[in-house]
Amino acid sequence: MAKQRIGILGGTFDPVHCGHMQIARFALSSARLDRVLILPAGAPEYKRCSASPEDRWKMIVAACRGDGQLIPCRVELDREGPTYTSDTLPLIRKMYPEAKLFWIQGGDSLLRIRRWRGADELLKEFRLLVISRPDEANEGAVSAEVELLRESGVRVKILPMETSPCSSGAIRAAYSEGLEPEGLDVSVRELIECKGLYGTAARVPESGAWLDRLFTALKPHRFAHSLSVAAAARDMAARFGEDPLKAEKAGLLHDCAKHLPLSDMQRIARENNLDVDSDFLASSSLLHSVVGAWVAEHEYGMKDPEILEAIAYHNTGHAGMSRLAMCVCLSDSIEPTREAYPLLEEIRAVAETSLEKALLFSLESTAGFVTSRGLFLHPRTRDTIAWLKTLPAVRE
Ligand SMILES: [Fe+2]
Ligand SMILES: [Fe+2]
Repeated sequence: MAKQRIGILGGTFDPVHCGHMQIARFALSSARLDRVLILPAGAPEYKRCSASPEDRWKMIVAACRGDGQLIPCRVELDREGPTYTSDTLPLIRKMYPEAKLFWIQGGDSLLRIRRWRGADELLKEFRLLVISRPDEANEGAVSAEVELLRESGVRVKILPMETSPCSSGAIRAAYSEGLEPEGLDVSVRELIECKGLYGTAARVPESGAWLDRLFTALKPHRFAHSLSVAAAARDMAARFGEDPLKAEKAGLLHDCAKHLPLSDMQRIARENNLDVDSDFLASSSLLHSVVGAWVAEHEYGMKDPEILEAIAYHNTGHAGMSRLAMCVCLSDSIEPTREAYPLLEEIRAVAETSLEKALLFSLESTAGFVTSRGLFLHPRTRDTIAWLKTLPAVRE
């Protein structure tokens, strides 16, 4: 059987940005790797990090969003004291005793690699993949270094790539100057700004505790999706004259019950006399919204009835729902990282100008999909569609 090919992309990731993800994906495809471990430094002696290890970790998990080939790796974070890459390598080797291991290195930092503590072990044990911008100012120096490494027996390959110009330093600098940073994944950006990392004013001060809880309650892709829905709902509410902060909070919490076992959801619904019928009780994809509103109130401390309503109605909609709830329901379906489905781009286009029309379009498209496959469409969605059609904003 062919040996697994595993790349390791190390760094402080303070914060992780689109350039990191681009490099990891490029290494995956061009070096035919099976996976890339994203390895945040624990307590590196050479650099102080602005964000805490756990915040950097959450941002990485959000950026990787459960992709089966980009794997966040905690090996360094879970070690005590200052950490060096050379001490980490034996641990990774133990995790993958049979694999071919590739250390992924940017072209400019390659020039310093031989000065790293334990560089000899690194270069003996790992193959080097050097990701180098073709027009990099130090291209000549990188090629010369590669030649030197080869002569000393290191297995090294240069992969030319048009890398994104973003950097963590530039992102931190932009935040410290009150500017819009470039190159952040929408979920990572939402986490930074709602929590108030890198000197930003926390928009949702309670989100620190919420995110800790959501992070353990949700799978990685759902955690990332919740952040992305929060960002989309916030923008949408601002566009349509609703309260952006309420929309953002509802977006963050909307799926808080999503990964509870169905039996737990049923128990919560029964014990608390939640407004659900037998169809809701039989389906976690229906029930998680109504139970989610209860969990948001009792476990996350959310008391605002408008936000709780938005959470409760986010999947089926509800005749008479508020415009804030519409923002959350629609954002859930069209947030920027949503996997493509038929009519997604058309719904997004309508959502630029009409909340009601876009929600109607979205629910009709869901209804069409569900009924065309002979699946069950809950009457609450049918009623919401009928009600939306009566609204002046849709009829005009
Ligand atoms: Fe949901
Ligand atoms: Fe959702």
